[in-house]
Amino acid sequence: MSETIKKAIFPAAGLGTRFLPATKASPKEMLPIVDKPMIQYGVEEAISCGINEFLIITGKHKRSIEDHFDCAFELEDNLKKSGKQQLLEEIKRLNQTNIAYIRQGYALGLGHAILCAKPFVKEEPFAVILSDDIIPPEDTLLRDMMLIYGKLKSPILALQQVSMSEIHRYGVIDGVREGDGVYRVNNLVEKPTRESAPSDLAIIGRYILTPDIFDVLAKAEPGKGGEIQLTDAIGTLLQSRPVYGFLYKGKRYDAGDKLGYLKATVDFAIKNPDLSGEFKSYLLAVAKKIGNGKLPE
Ligand code: G1P
Repeated sequence: MSETIKKAIFPAAGLGTRFLPATKASPKEMLPIVDKPMIQYGVEEAISCGINEFLIITGKHKRSIEDHFDCAFELEDNLKKSGKQQLLEEIKRLNQTNIAYIRQGYALGLGHAILCAKPFVKEEPFAVILSDDIIPPEDTLLRDMMLIYGKLKSPILALQQVSMSEIHRYGVIDGVREGDGVYRVNNLVEKPTRESAPSDLAIIGRYILTPDIFDVLAKAEPGKGGEIQLTDAIGTLLQSRPVYGFLYKGKRYDAGDKLGYLKATVDFAIKNPDLSGEFKSYLLAVAKKIGNGKLPE
C-alpha cells in the first residue's frame, strides 16, 4: 500500500436541507463564501498539502460543481479581451485541477458516499474533506494529519472539542491521549445525546482513511437516521486496527449551518484585501447601532 496521500474525496451528494430553499436546485457546495464556492476552499486546502487527485461524489442538481471546475472558453476569451489578466488566471487555474466525478444515485449517507469512491481510491490511503467544514486557508490541519499518518500508518480523524449542547450534531469519540494532540480511539458514537456522549471530542470534516474501510462499508447496516454511517464503519474497523484522532485547536466554520456560514462570510470578508476597509467600517457602524438597541436600516 502506498504511504503518501495523493487522493482526496469530497462527498457532495447531500440534500442540503439546512439551506433550503437556496439548495432546492443548486448544490450547497456551490454557496459562496465571499467570492469562492465552499467546495473550492476544500480543494485548495488539499492542493496546498500536495494532493493532486480529486474525486467529488455528486448527485442530483450538482452539475454546476462540474461546470465550476471545467474550462469556460467564452468567459476566458472575454476576460482576455477586456484585459482582466488576474481574474483570467484565477479562472483558468480551476480547470487545471485533476477532478473525477462519481454519482451517488441515492443519498444513503456519508458511509455510502465513501464506498462509492472505492474504484477511484483502489489500494491507497486517502483524505476525506467535508467541504461545509471550512478551515482557514492559512491553517495546517490536513497537513498535520498527513504527517501523523506518515508516522502511525493508521486512519486519522480530525477532532474538535465542542460544547455538550452541540454534541448531538457530531460523531463523537471515546479515546486516550497518546501524544501531542493525538488520541487513540477506543469507541465512536454517531450523533449521541448529551447523556450518551462518551466525551466532548467531536469528529470534524477531515479524515485520513485506509482502503480497508471499503470492506467494512460494503457490509455496513444503516445506522443513525437510517443512513450508512462512516462513524459506525470506523467503529467496526477498530476491531482489526488502531484508529487515531488529532485534536484541532484552530478555527473551523460549520458552513453547512446558517450561523456558521454567516460567521465564515464575515471573517473571510474582513480578511479580503479588496473589501476589508469598507466592510470593517460597515460592521462597526452596525455593531454601534445594535449596541444602542437599534436595528440596521
Ligand atoms: C458528518 C458525520 C459526523 C461528523 C460531521 C462533521 O455528519 O456523520 O460524524 O461529526 O459530519 O461535520 P453531518 O454533518 O453530515 O450530519
